[in-house]
Amino acid sequence: MKRVKSGIEGIDNITGGFPQGRSMLVTGDAGSGKTIFGLQFAKSSCAQGFKTTYITTEEDAKDLYTQGESFNWDMKSQTETGKLNFVELAGVRAKVTEAEMSIDIGAMKGNFTKFVNEIPEDTNTVVIDNIGSYTAKLTPYEFRDRFDLLVYELKKRDITALIILDSATSKEFNEIALFSVYGAMRLMKRENPYTGRRERVMDIVKMRSTKTPTQFISYEINSDGISMV
Ligand SMILES: Nc1ncnc2c1ncn2[C@@H]1O[C@H](COP(=O)(O)OP(=O)(O)OP(=O)(O)O)[C@@H](O)[C@H]1O
Ligand SMILES: [Mg+2]
Repeated sequence: MKRVKSGIEGIDNITGGFPQGRSMLVTGDAGSGKTIFGLQFAKSSCAQGFKTTYITTEEDAKDLYTQGESFNWDMKSQTETGKLNFVELAGVRAKVTEAEMSIDIGAMKGNFTKFVNEIPEDTNTVVIDNIGSYTAKLTPYEFRDRFDLLVYELKKRDITALIILDSATSKEFNEIALFSVYGAMRLMKRENPYTGRRERVMDIVKMRSTKTPTQFISYEINSDGISMV
């Protein structure tokens, strides 16, 4: 199976990289580094020659550039050369008022295929950050149905995807999403029982056809992004 480097050396050394043409799920609490992970993967994907689309549902592209700049990542030139492409879904959502939403809830509800429609033809890699904002009022059954369809559509297009789902979105949805994807990682903070200090750890929950560690992996967010400790 071909692999795509995640952009995080520690993960690539352990796993060999993300399985190409499959979907990976990243879940985690607020501030755990999901967006940074997504950007780092997007940057790395471009560097490997893959045409990459970053779909953002909450932050605008400008803020994402600012985040990248804080690590000295030159995402502007990747955009200018057409390797990297940002799609902002936040604007679309903001235009829909509460009232409209309650009337047209059926149409808005978990419309994940919208993500797929926004992806340019020849895209190899996609980051979706984050689908949690599209899950409001879905039943677990509906969520599963639509999430499965999203993963299926991405696979059909041979896209390597990193799908971000925040932990604030119900625990139930987090569990359901785990089944549909090829691989999954969870980012969290926990107290180290020995030092008493809080640390960032990642759980590679699963990665099909890959040997994964059973232990949590410690990581840091430093001046050049996410790295394993
Ligand atoms: N330049 C930097 N250097 C070091 N740490 C940074 C830097 N930029 C951001 N961070 C750390 O990363 C955290 C934010 O990470 P990120 O935005 O990826 O989290 P997230 O999981 O996407 O959060 P949310 O759920 O709010 O979207 C910040 O709270 C900060 O601790
Ligand atoms: Mg984020």
